Amino acid sequence: AETLGESAAQSGRYFGTAIEPGYFGEQPYVNTLNQEFNSVVAENNMKWETTEPAQGQFDFSGGDQVVAHAESQGMQVRGHTLVWHSQLAQWAQQLSGDALNQAMIDHINGVAGHYQGQIASWDVVNEAFDEDGTRRDDSHFQQQLGDGYIEEAFRTAREADPNAQLCYNDYNTDGINAKSNGVYDMVADFKARGVPIDCVGFQTHLSTSSDLSTYQENLQRFADLGVNVQITELDVGGSGTAQADVYRAVTQACLAVERCEGITVWGIPDTYSWRAEETPLLFDGNYQKKEAYYAVLEALNSA
Ligand code: G3I
Repeated sequence: AETLGESAAQSGRYFGTAIEPGYFGEQPYVNTLNQEFNSVVAENNMKWETTEPAQGQFDFSGGDQVVAHAESQGMQVRGHTLVWHSQLAQWAQQLSGDALNQAMIDHINGVAGHYQGQIASWDVVNEAFDEDGTRRDDSHFQQQLGDGYIEEAFRTAREADPNAQLCYNDYNTDGINAKSNGVYDMVADFKARGVPIDCVGFQTHLSTSSDLSTYQENLQRFADLGVNVQITELDVGGSGTAQADVYRAVTQACLAVERCEGITVWGIPDTYSWRAEETPLLFDGNYQKKEAYYAVLEALNSA
């Protein structure tokens, strides 16, 4: 097939991108989005500080634009993210104990409830672990609520949208290491105790020097716990063949793991990336396809 989305669909997978509705007025942006991708995620618009800037006052304007565009094009939507220590509204950072716990529950009900039935997978909790595999101690949720907030968030999200898959999502968990071991133990515990979790997202923010030697094995060991796996924020700092090789390896790893449902890249043109100076995406600033694009397309078509 000729596009990323159609090529991924040949094996029942999706190929998605993070988007910002602020760029919808730019024709090449929308053309590339509509032609190449069959899944989207809001790069920022469904985060707490945006969706509930004041307690109990929800603003879904940006997120609704993302969902409306996706529905008009028959694309899936990933939801990002319900509970994250970063981009958390100021008011929530002032709350402690029970008040914060209730605010978290109300936030999940408000946001996942609003989008009920429209989200394929929610990143219920994002980036809750430190590099050493323990819980991230600079998280306001962790500090105020302890380990149990993650489980509470998943149970709440299941009730708010029973049709969405519920994911845990993190970075630097791409290979087998202390951090991914910590997440693995949590997912194993959740599965053993019946805490609702359906998927694990591997952000996969990489560079040309990233060690991918255990990447596929890591995806597979999570899949073997009985959850789906997704590559959720892929980008690779670098250029040319070295960059294309990393993109190809990631794509091939996903294709080799039956429960790897799809790949999302973290933006369309390099110039709009959070890592713009590292040119980490599949299209250059003029929406020209890069070598990395062709490597991914070819890998998807040889599955
Ligand atoms: O919306 C304001 C705008 O009003 C203001 O004029 C402008 C001035 O700086 O800032 C705008 O907010 C920025 C926001 O992106 C929207 O563009 C923030 O400053 C900026 O910090 C924010 O960065 C985002 C970052 O998350 C925040 O942590 C990036 O775009 C986004 O790509 C990045 O995405 C995260 C994932 O959610 C989680 N995983 C890591 C990934 C990369 O950091």
